[in-house]
Amino acid sequence: MKKILALVLAVMMMVVAAGCGGGDQAASSGSGSGAASSGGKQITMGFSQIGAESEWRTANTESIKQAAQDAGVNLQFSDAQQKQENQIKAIRSFIAQGVDIIAFVPIVETGWDTVLKEAKDANIPVIVVDRDVKLADDSLYVAKIGTDSLTEGKNVFKWIDEYMTKENKKPRDGGSQYNVVILEGTVGSSVAIRRNEGFKDAMAASPNAGKYNILASQTGEFTRQKGQEVMESFLKSYGDKIDVLYAHNDDMALGAIQAIEAAGMKPGKDITIISVDGVKGIFQAMIEGKSNCTVECNPLQGPLLMETAKKILNGEKVEKLVYVDEGIFPADVAEKTLPERKY
Ligand code: AHR
Repeated sequence: MKKILALVLAVMMMVVAAGCGGGDQAASSGSGSGAASSGGKQITMGFSQIGAESEWRTANTESIKQAAQDAGVNLQFSDAQQKQENQIKAIRSFIAQGVDIIAFVPIVETGWDTVLKEAKDANIPVIVVDRDVKLADDSLYVAKIGTDSLTEGKNVFKWIDEYMTKENKKPRDGGSQYNVVILEGTVGSSVAIRRNEGFKDAMAASPNAGKYNILASQTGEFTRQKGQEVMESFLKSYGDKIDVLYAHNDDMALGAIQAIEAAGMKPGKDITIISVDGVKGIFQAMIEGKSNCTVECNPLQGPLLMETAKKILNGEKVEKLVYVDEGIFPADVAEKTLPERKY
């Protein structure tokens, strides 16, 4: 009798234990540990990235994917291969799927009004990431998370001006002005527009404005290869007249460095080089003495994006415009700083 009782008790305990275990499993697979939820269900975010043109962009994509995973957000990721039409298609497909929220990096500044109105009509909030949009109605997006390209452009000029003065650089053509060439980013992108605008504004405001002459300015499409090609053509046309290269991103500067070396000149010495982003590749070039400064543009925007998305879907108020923190890194801090760089 005792044996039968013990057996019944053991079976009952196993049943209870199995019931508890099943409950736990259901809870964790239903919402995931730390899963983001909107009204109890997991958040689905449609995200349209522009492509993979640079080291910076790769870091930006990784940051967003990792942050979504950490936050338990179901990320529907779409790569537009550098085409606005692909981004518009992706946004329309997110609307058709009924995602909870849409985020996108606008490859260019204009042309978003219609599709963002469609998202608004479908009651899907939109977050603009990294670059800016120009709209007739700013209520078509809820928040913008990104970087301050105007300030980046201003910082580039200010750094060059201080450096050329401090180093007592003499114009290479024997004249009275430093000749500057510019490798611009994607045509029509807010970053290319603002990085130019900021540079020119700071130059116009400087008492040294007359010391600088912009010799040539052309797009290198934010890629290393195009940066190299355009620099080759600048060197063919202007050769030893060029004093300063301003590249709108580090990848184009890295391509240009190859072109300068192939032309038998010393990048970072014969031609002073400054670029924007702060990727590991340019830190390495600065350590080797081939580049002079990078103005940071921080791609690690994923955590802030997920936090903002959760707040919006919980009905909390968010800032319309949030900039991520950025610094300026000249060559003399490159060696010390490289081990700390996250991208
Ligand atoms: O929009 C940010 C810019 O886009 C980065 O400076 C550049 O590297 C990227 O491709």
